Amino acid sequence: MSAIRPAAVVVLAAGEGTRMKSATPKVLHEICGRSLVGHVLAAARELKPEHLVVVVGHAREQVTAHLAGVDPEVRTAVQEEQNGTGHAVRMGLEELGGSVDGTVIVVCGDTPLLTGETLRSLAGTHQDDGNAVTVLSAEVPDATGYGRIVRDDATGAVTAIVEHKDATEAQRAIREINSGVFAFDGRLLADALGKVRTDNSQGEEYLTDVLGILREAGHRVGACVAGDHREIAGINNRVQLAEARRVLNDRLLTAAMLSGVTVVDPVTTWVDVTVTFERDVVVHPGTQLLGSTHLGEGAEVGPHSRLADTRVGAGARVDNTVSDGAVVGPEASVGPYAYLRPGTRLGLGSKVGTYVETKNASIGEGTKVPHLSYVGDATIGEYTNIGAASVFVNYDGQNKHHTTVGSHCKTGSDNMFVAPVTVGDGAYTAAGSVITKDVPAGALAVARGQQRNIEGWVARKRPGSAAAKAAEAAAPGGEGEA
Ligand code: UD1
Ligand code: MG
Repeated sequence: MSAIRPAAVVVLAAGEGTRMKSATPKVLHEICGRSLVGHVLAAARELKPEHLVVVVGHAREQVTAHLAGVDPEVRTAVQEEQNGTGHAVRMGLEELGGSVDGTVIVVCGDTPLLTGETLRSLAGTHQDDGNAVTVLSAEVPDATGYGRIVRDDATGAVTAIVEHKDATEAQRAIREINSGVFAFDGRLLADALGKVRTDNSQGEEYLTDVLGILREAGHRVGACVAGDHREIAGINNRVQLAEARRVLNDRLLTAAMLSGVTVVDPVTTWVDVTVTFERDVVVHPGTQLLGSTHLGEGAEVGPHSRLADTRVGAGARVDNTVSDGAVVGPEASVGPYAYLRPGTRLGLGSKVGTYVETKNASIGEGTKVPHLSYVGDATIGEYTNIGAASVFVNYDGQNKHHTTVGSHCKTGSDNMFVAPVTVGDGAYTAAGSVITKDVPAGALAVARGQQRNIEGWVARKRPGSAAAKAAEAAAPGGEGEA
C-alpha cells in the first residue's frame, strides 16, 4: 500500500454528548490518561496530514483550550449550531478556505480506539481504488442507532448510507454500519456538501448523504471494512466509556507483555498510554501506572500501588506505594505503605520503608528511612540511617525550610529536625531529640530533657492500685523477690 499523506483531517467534536450526563463536554472525558479527542488526534497525527482541523461548538472555549494544550498545531473551526455532521464538515472546510485538493479524512472526536493503522488502511484503499469517497464500515453485533451501509444486491457495491431513524425494517436488519470515518476527494466533498438537504427525520445536514450524491453523479464510492468493530465504537455514555477504557488498557498491557513485562493480573492493572517499561519488569495486582511513569529493567511494582509521573530504576522494588513525581533509584526499596511526593529522589539502593512520607527530598545512595517518618524539604547524604518515627519539621506556619543531613550519620528514633538545620557527616543524634541547632560532623547531639525518677510515687499517690501492688511485690523483700 502506498504511503498516503492526506491534505486534511477534519475531526468532528461540536456535539454536546447529552448521554454522558456531565458538566464536562464528551470529548474531554478521559481514558488511559488522554481525552477522547486527544486519542483521535494522536491517531490522526500518524497520517501526517497537512492540516488538522477540529470542529468545535458545544462548550467550545473549554474544548479549544484543551486542544491547545494537547496539540498546539491543531486548527479549530466553530460550528455555532449543531445542524448535523454534513454541516460540521462544511464548517471545517471553511476554515481551510472552503475546499482543498487531495484527500480529506473525516473522523469523530469520540472514537478513542481508532488507530492510525486503520486510518492508513482507509486512506490506502481510497487511493488504490480511485474512489471519490470511501467509508470505513464494520460488521457489528448490534447495529441499533448506527447508519446502515446499503449495498447493491447484484454487485455488492455501496449505494447509500441510511440513518437508523430513517431506515426501513429491511434496512435495519443490515449489520454493516457506518463508523463515521471517511476518506473523500476534497474538491468533490465540497461540491457535494453544497447539495446536502435537510429533509430527514432529524432535520439535519447528514454527511452520509454525500455518498449517495457522489454516486448518483457517477463517481466511485467504496467501503473499507474494519477488521475489529470495537475499534470504531463511538462513546455516547459512561458505560461505553468504561468499556473503551478496558479495551485500550488491554491493548496497552498486551503490548507491554509482548515486550517482556510480566503483568501478574491484567484485570486489576491500569496503565496510561504514556507509560513506558523496560524488560523483566514485574507488575503485581491492583496497580495503576499513570502519566510519564517509566519502569526500568527488572523493577517490581505493586501490589496495590499508584505511580504517577514516577521513574523507577532498574531492579528497584516498590510495594503498596502511592507516588507522584518521584525518581526511585536503581535497586532502591520503597514501602510497603510509603507515600512519595513531588521532588523525591531516591539514590541507588536506598530505602524508604513503612509509613514513610517524602516530599522534595533527596535521599542518597544506601541511605535508609525505614519506619514511620516524614522527610520534607531535605537532603540526606549516603549510607545514613534515619531512626524510626522522625519528622523533618519543615514548616514554621509561614515558610518552608530545608534540612541537610550528611553521609554515614545515625540519627536516633523519634527525632525532630527543626529546619533550617544541618547535621554533619558521621554525626549521631540521641533518640527523642529535638534538633534545633546544627550538629558538627562526628558529634553526638542530645537534645531532650534529663530523666528524673521520683521514688515511691505510685505507693503514695495511687495506694491500693494494681500498679502499687505490683510495685510492692517487686520491691526488695516483697513477695515477687526471689
Ligand atoms: C453518525 C452517523 C452514522 C454513524 C454514527 C457512527 C451521520 C448523519 N450519522 O450518527 O451514520 O453510524 O455517526 O457513530 O453522520 N457532530 C458535530 N456537529 C453536528 C453533529 C454532530 O460536530 O452538528 C459531531 C459529534 O460531536 C460527534 C460526531 O459528529 O463527534 C457524530 O455525531 P453524532 O450525533 O454522535 O452522530 P450519530 O447520530 O451517532
Ligand atoms: Mg446524532
